[in-house]
Amino acid sequence: MTANRLHPAVPPNERDRPLRLAVLISGSGSNLQALIDASQRGDAPFEVGLVISNRADALGLERAARAGIPTQTLSHRGFETRAGYDAALAELLSEAAPGLIALAGFMRILTPGFVEHWQGRMLNIHPSLLPSYRGLHTHQRVLAAGDPVHGATVHFVTAELDGGPAILQARVPVLADDDPDRLAARVLKQEHHIYPLATRWFAEGRLALSSDGRTQLDGKPLDSPVIITADTA
Ligand code: GAR
Repeated sequence: MTANRLHPAVPPNERDRPLRLAVLISGSGSNLQALIDASQRGDAPFEVGLVISNRADALGLERAARAGIPTQTLSHRGFETRAGYDAALAELLSEAAPGLIALAGFMRILTPGFVEHWQGRMLNIHPSLLPSYRGLHTHQRVLAAGDPVHGATVHFVTAELDGGPAILQARVPVLADDDPDRLAARVLKQEHHIYPLATRWFAEGRLALSSDGRTQLDGKPLDSPVIITADTA
């Protein structure tokens, strides 16, 4: 049997150390902050080298500036097509040449060509236990369905919206008195734990996407994501 080709093509031991991240945001940037905080711990194998926002008023831009990280705003207004926007985004990214792109609340659908170029080198975090509840308003939808458990997923990005292979999930119990904001806050707290953790795995060369579209952790395919179950705090 031939081994599956892995993305990225650059073997971990030949990559820059630390791995340089570009983080794409649209809003508050609390996940960006979690990545910055993790990168500033002594033994971190990654650093945030660039933050790009499609909104000039994103609070995450201030977080990046406070940490001395270069920022770029690329507004989607003024672009007639998604492809046009993504071409401009690709240009910004190719100048920065990051080893990994982390989507952190970047609320834009990316074109298949853009995603294909970065496949295996682009992660996203989504506030649900994928494949359940892709898209928006996940917390309201979980409460409306009466689900006992909710959570968040870190996954590789593929052309399918919120559909790429999952890596790591945090499960969060839904409580009797939850409303969307309370539930979202508890899920977000877990997001801040699992996103830096999965990023660390990638930066350490432990995590990859094989050409057959499966997540590989420590050289073995993951049939299901690694799961962390949070308490009710
Ligand atoms: C997070 O909850 C993230 O999971 C979600 O947006 C929020 C961004 O918060 N992302 C998506 O819904 C992507 N489909 P943040 O700006 O404070 O990190």
